[in-house]
Amino acid sequence: MAKSWSSSDLHLDWDRSTGWPGLAEALRAAVRSNRLPHGTALPSTRALAQDLGVARGTVTKVYEQLAAEGYLRTQQGSVTRVATTGAPPSSPPHPARTPPAPRWTLLPGRPDFSSFPRALWASATRRVLQTAPPSAFDYPDVRGTAELRAALARYLARSRGVLADPERTVVCGGHAHAVSLLATVLRERGAGEIAFEDPSLPIFRDVAATAGLRVTGAGVDADGVLVAELSELDAPAAVVTPAHQYPLGHTLAPARRAELVRWATGSGGVVVEDDYDGEFRFDRQPVGALQALAPERVVYAGTASKTLAPALRLSWLVLPRDLVDPVLAAMAGTGWRAPALEQLVLAELLDSGAYDLHVRRRRAAYRSRRDRLLAALPEALRPTGISAGLHLVLPLPAGGPTEEEVQAAATRRSLAVEVLGRHWMRPRPDRRGIVVGYAHPAEHAFAPTVRALLATLADLGLT
Ligand SMILES: Cc1ncc(COP(=O)(O)O)c(C=O)c1O
Repeated sequence: MAKSWSSSDLHLDWDRSTGWPGLAEALRAAVRSNRLPHGTALPSTRALAQDLGVARGTVTKVYEQLAAEGYLRTQQGSVTRVATTGAPPSSPPHPARTPPAPRWTLLPGRPDFSSFPRALWASATRRVLQTAPPSAFDYPDVRGTAELRAALARYLARSRGVLADPERTVVCGGHAHAVSLLATVLRERGAGEIAFEDPSLPIFRDVAATAGLRVTGAGVDADGVLVAELSELDAPAAVVTPAHQYPLGHTLAPARRAELVRWATGSGGVVVEDDYDGEFRFDRQPVGALQALAPERVVYAGTASKTLAPALRLSWLVLPRDLVDPVLAAMAGTGWRAPALEQLVLAELLDSGAYDLHVRRRRAAYRSRRDRLLAALPEALRPTGISAGLHLVLPLPAGGPTEEEVQAAATRRSLAVEVLGRHWMRPRPDRRGIVVGYAHPAEHAFAPTVRALLATLADLGLT
């Protein structure tokens, strides 16, 4: 599609001393190099002449010359456009073949993008723009806007039982950003190590390692993280997923919650509670945030990535008091601040009840998907963990296919799925599995995507 340019959008490498022939050559060069692709609208002769500080006749002469050479198309009464295609940018003689994107995807960690509440977001944006004072367009508070921190504190207290307070709430740009800030602060405080659940998502472990911490693992069983293993490590901090262990899907049992809190209070350790999908529990037994048991030892970490969209890059921390200033200092040191307008829109959604409405609808939709998926799967393949979240893990039977065979079979069916392997810190070839993100397909694609999964499982002899 041709762009409509204002005169100031056109940059030409023109040395004035070369006169009109030099200006013509500068324009030719811009077309030849494809900097001005076919169809590009050029400024009017009047506008370009004004910008360049030359007589209008000079630009007219240049346009006419290039039109005669076939570079431009001029027509009385309409804009002048580039009429030819320049040389393609130099490319390798044999460009690498990128494999076609899979037709179906069950990759975990992503909500259904087609369910993003565009209308709610648009009307909240309109309300924000109509009511925000001019100061809303200033550099935002490094902690996040006061409106969002207050709205989050109310929402988290109400929906997740967090002991929230706007003064200890900090808005971040996603969980990896939050982990990076926390790891930086812990490192500055003399920590050398941080523990993650084994298995867990590698990206967050990598971020902590990049911040200078040694990463160690504590195992997980059906009651959640093994606190006994954690106690044997030297780590003064642990990142855990109590509501819905990622990826295995277990919930941290009450006794284990108490044990974890005892570990933190007894050792002066810090627990980072990654509540990435806490809103999506389907069995009507929601468990409140661990943070409420020990708000001075537990960092609560939430995100908009599952409820709304990862593209927003909005997440939040509710911090123990003694971590607030260090985390803000670490944040200020990076020069990053959460974009204010998006924060105000999210605050508006939270305060108006629109966010709750959206989450309720998504919860019902994802619950139904999980039920439909389980009904379709063979009896022998039952997921680990509780009925919650946006994904489930199907353990592979002993003597069954390898994870590589699963990936290859899925690729043949044009299906993208995840496997357990890369989540383990200590390789567990005996604990193989498929991580199925059932939330991601658009609703109309869900049934065919499940059929692609079933066909893959059949190919592998698993049905
Ligand atoms: C275990 C876990 N924690 C946290 C997150 C949220 O990360 P972010 O806020 O960076 O999107 C995800 C998203 O995939 C996740 O899977």
